Amino acid sequence: MKIEIPREIERFGAIRFHGLQKVFELDSGLKADSPKNQIGTVKQIPYEDYYEIQKKMAIVVPIRSERLRLLEGVLCGIPHKCLIIMVSNSPRTPIDRFKMEEEALNNFCTFVNKKAIIAHQKDPYLVKAFEKTKYANILNKSGEIRDGKAEGMIIGTILAWLAGKKYIGFVDADNYFPGAIEEYVREYAAGFYLSTSPYSMVRIAWQSKPKIVEEKLFFHKWGRASKNTNWLLNQMLSHYYGFESELIKTGNAGEHAMTIDLAMLLDYSSGYSVEPYHFINLVEKFGGIKESPFPKVMKPGIEVFQIESRNPHLHEVGETEHIDDMSFVAMQVIYHSPICPDKLKKEIYNTMVKRKLLSKNVKPPQPVKFSSLTTIDEKLFFNVIEASSYGKVIKEIRS
Ligand code: GDD
Ligand code: MG
Repeated sequence: MKIEIPREIERFGAIRFHGLQKVFELDSGLKADSPKNQIGTVKQIPYEDYYEIQKKMAIVVPIRSERLRLLEGVLCGIPHKCLIIMVSNSPRTPIDRFKMEEEALNNFCTFVNKKAIIAHQKDPYLVKAFEKTKYANILNKSGEIRDGKAEGMIIGTILAWLAGKKYIGFVDADNYFPGAIEEYVREYAAGFYLSTSPYSMVRIAWQSKPKIVEEKLFFHKWGRASKNTNWLLNQMLSHYYGFESELIKTGNAGEHAMTIDLAMLLDYSSGYSVEPYHFINLVEKFGGIKESPFPKVMKPGIEVFQIESRNPHLHEVGETEHIDDMSFVAMQVIYHSPICPDKLKKEIYNTMVKRKLLSKNVKPPQPVKFSSLTTIDEKLFFNVIEASSYGKVIKEIRS
């Protein structure tokens, strides 16, 4: 891959936010093909190097009732060396959709000759493991693991950690283009290649999101929820910088990756609020505004890369209500952050009321939060899940 080196960097405490990077060539060959005099603004990442990174990477696919055809395309786009971890919250009755997903995954693995992990979000072994390791906030009143994409991501992160992976990336299961998935994973590796810190995050911004508008294909640049979230996050950062900034372009990015070391340190927030919350939580923990709970991380710092993908992003179209909900929860996590300036709080509140997401004089609700995974005892968690089908695969991978 040939990628532009970030033109802008904004430092926020121990965090280095890199500006959007363009990809010039998706595959730029082997080390031997590296140009002798590389232009200073473009970096070649030889195939061998991102292959090495992908060997240490788990790709988590959260899934809830997606079409199997789409899932099969997504699986086929994941590079061979990455460990696939599917976390499903699909219904098991009256039709066992989870079983169908499991069969699709097993079938795929037989054909491509690889091992993969699949777990159901309501799996009793996981419930017990969370209880034993005192991470019970993730359970609802009936003692089940809560619904939600973030909850699935937490499970995926723990399984990747137990399997000894160094990097973790997320891709949605409802993507129409297998080639886009392959590109995202390559870009995750590119970000880690460029990073100088063990604590890094790579977020994908799509160059386009095609939609049919008046019977023609129109390539939108920004999703409806993303526009609003990016604007708010930039406003918050600008408040502290004292300079207006537009650097953040990936506030809602569902397609993103982290080093496991960073993924274990961040707090999580329920459902679709997790992506903007990760931004907020990064700044809360490492932005230098409040004392960091992990002072050792402040020296190497955190690097956040934003990479613009070339493939169009086409997924199942969400209803306006769903997009509004996503925007609403993003606003909630920003509003409730202790580092959100009062002026911005007022602005968020007014937007919520104006968009009829909140009644006047009512305090905005907030999503459930989950503390960082550092408190989870690795041995204890693994001992509980060892006997499950996915526990057995993890054991094989570890040995
Ligand atoms: N395990 C699990 N549990 N997976 C879930 C759940 C759940 O409760 N709910 C949804 N998913 C899966 C979906 O099946 C899909 O693979 C992925 O999570 C994303 O869900 P979508 O419903 O497709 O989300 P979206 O397309 O509206 O939004 C996506 O893009 C946004 C950025 O534009 C998501 O990735 C958002 O998180 C992201 O902010
Ligand atoms: Mg989707």
